[in-house]
Amino acid sequence: MKNIILFGGAFDPIHLGHLNMAEAASKTLDAEVIFIPAKISVWKSDSAPINDKIRMIELAIKDFHREGVFSVSKYEAELENDINYSIDTVKHFKKLYPNDNLFLLIGTDQVNSFHKWKSAKEISEIVNIIFFGRDNYEINKKNVVEYNMRKIDGEINDINSTDIRELKNLETTDSVLDYIIDNDLYFMSKIKERMCEDRYLHSKSVGKLSYEIAKSNKVVEPKKALIAGLIHDCAKELPRNEEKALMEEYFPQYLYLPRIIYHQFTGSIIAERDFGIHDKTILDAIKYHTTANSGMSDIGLIIYCADKIEPTRGFDSKNLINSMKCSLKQGFKDVMKSNIEYYDRHGINYRNELTVACLKQYYK
Ligand SMILES: [Fe+2]
Ligand SMILES: [Fe+2]
Repeated sequence: MKNIILFGGAFDPIHLGHLNMAEAASKTLDAEVIFIPAKISVWKSDSAPINDKIRMIELAIKDFHREGVFSVSKYEAELENDINYSIDTVKHFKKLYPNDNLFLLIGTDQVNSFHKWKSAKEISEIVNIIFFGRDNYEINKKNVVEYNMRKIDGEINDINSTDIRELKNLETTDSVLDYIIDNDLYFMSKIKERMCEDRYLHSKSVGKLSYEIAKSNKVVEPKKALIAGLIHDCAKELPRNEEKALMEEYFPQYLYLPRIIYHQFTGSIIAERDFGIHDKTILDAIKYHTTANSGMSDIGLIIYCADKIEPTRGFDSKNLINSMKCSLKQGFKDVMKSNIEYYDRHGINYRNELTVACLKQYYK
């Protein structure tokens, strides 16, 4: 007889909070965990198709090295009815595992409303109901007693799927992030609608390369590099009049610069206004990704370079990529040097105040 935890939810997408909860519950009860993604999500507008949600759970399980302990069920996904009740799910799994000990993991908020669930008493007789506590969250003790619920010790991470869908944070595993990016899910569709296909591919490539470079240099919060990389060119296709209006309002001091440079400034405005990014490191990385500047953060150096050397740029940039992955400072100098040589060869005037300030800092 083994212990099996049923873990239902939207998983739209699965995140580290889900995985950490599954891990803690699994260890406490010496149990396997079955993730059961729901077909219908409350957030229909930016929800992912159920097959994508299933695939992401599979990838997350692999990243978490929990194959054989964690698994994903297509039970709810394959139901004909859009509405499904937990009692039906619970009965289905009891039939599948008649001799095993079943647990149902529910959310802290669900503890308090459990008496309203269809056939609540019957559910509690078929499975053992478990939940995690939350700081400053009053639990309905009557329900805990009535339905014989058990609290599992462990931290609940303050992570939610909405933030991931909206690019506010990306607290899920790397394979899930790759899947979201490669399949244009959630925030990617918002990025995509702002640019032509080539620029979209370039943005994906800058995001991924920036993240790799940040990780290999052990930069703190490397996902900031991914976010900045993905949206660094989000303003490059703004209508001319809108671009000019933003420049006049927010960056009149840089109106004298070549127009091609405007999008780094307007990009930082759009990232904040339309993508809700308020992190200064991310916004500054976008703000100087074309010209560079003095006093750039590690994320800033990475975005500047990844933009120039990402693999779809059409030249052999392997050495520069390796250089960036080995050392940010040296890599940045190498990329800057090759960039300046390119400008000189093509007679491009790069001597604006920002680039000059950066050159002074790095080539004293
Ligand atoms: Fe750009
Ligand atoms: Fe770019």
